[in-house]
Amino acid sequence: MKAKVLVTRALFPEALERLNATFEVDYNPEDRALPPEEIAARLAGKDGAITLLSDRIDAAALAGAAGLKAVCNVAVGYNNYDLAAITAAGVMATNTPGVLDDTTADTAWALLLASARRIVAADRWVRDGQWQGWKFHDGWFGQDVHHATLGILGMGRIGRAVARRASGFSMRVIYHNRQRLEPGQEAACAATWVDKATLLRDSDFLVLMLPYSPATHHAIGAAELAAMKPSAHLINVARGGIVDDNALIDALGNGRLAGAGLDVFENEPALDPRFAGLSNVVLTPHIGSSSRATRLAMAMCAVDNLVAALAGQRPPNLLNPAVLGA
Ligand code: GLV
Repeated sequence: MKAKVLVTRALFPEALERLNATFEVDYNPEDRALPPEEIAARLAGKDGAITLLSDRIDAAALAGAAGLKAVCNVAVGYNNYDLAAITAAGVMATNTPGVLDDTTADTAWALLLASARRIVAADRWVRDGQWQGWKFHDGWFGQDVHHATLGILGMGRIGRAVARRASGFSMRVIYHNRQRLEPGQEAACAATWVDKATLLRDSDFLVLMLPYSPATHHAIGAAELAAMKPSAHLINVARGGIVDDNALIDALGNGRLAGAGLDVFENEPALDPRFAGLSNVVLTPHIGSSSRATRLAMAMCAVDNLVAALAGQRPPNLLNPAVLGA
């Protein structure tokens, strides 16, 4: 008998084909998040599930799913998982690290450059027909990226990929992470560890690459923004909630901070309307990993995890080895 799996939301046909070959698949073909009650109902009687970051998997979702063995997130971040509850239920949890590092680092750089050089506001101005003629003092002076100081808060794989890209811009790269990198890793991305106060004080561009958890909630709030240079730009492609959006809106509005590039927000997909009124912020809809190749690789990685878990093997990206007694 084939194992039964739930796929909560539209994936790629290639991924579905692989799942169908091995499992009996309960597939939501729509690209809409299922309501929590429906996820809970459809997890009942399943052996495994592929979930997206818009699906909350917690004790309530698992309450009726006694036979569930694995939940496999198609994302590197897993703050949509209550890992303690999943582990307590004896269910393996996995994510998709590695395959999205470069694409997400590219997105961070796209936002950084767009914010520094005011690309989106300038584009809007040209479209609006406001450009009357070239001027030397054109009112569009931006911030130089080359030879500036790039700060990175959170130096995992994606943070290191962001750092490596800085060498082409002759930047000084500093970072803060709870754990300092091995000397070889620091050398590979030419980055220097500093304490958080120094990172905030010295960064011309501060890129956030932390995972979201209660410990990182509002890691950047009013006090941290006040400690940054008024000429600095803040880039967040990690998770909403790491930044206190209220404090950021104040800082951007009153000139305390020069600019921001944001791919993630506290209450996404709802946008605080005050962001839309600011010309010194670039906004994108959580597209950090969004190239076709990378999203496909993420889906396939989640499938690999599920196939391994339901074959009785340790999945490659197991988040809670405690369930295996390890
Ligand atoms: C995207 O946000 C991810 O965590 O993969």
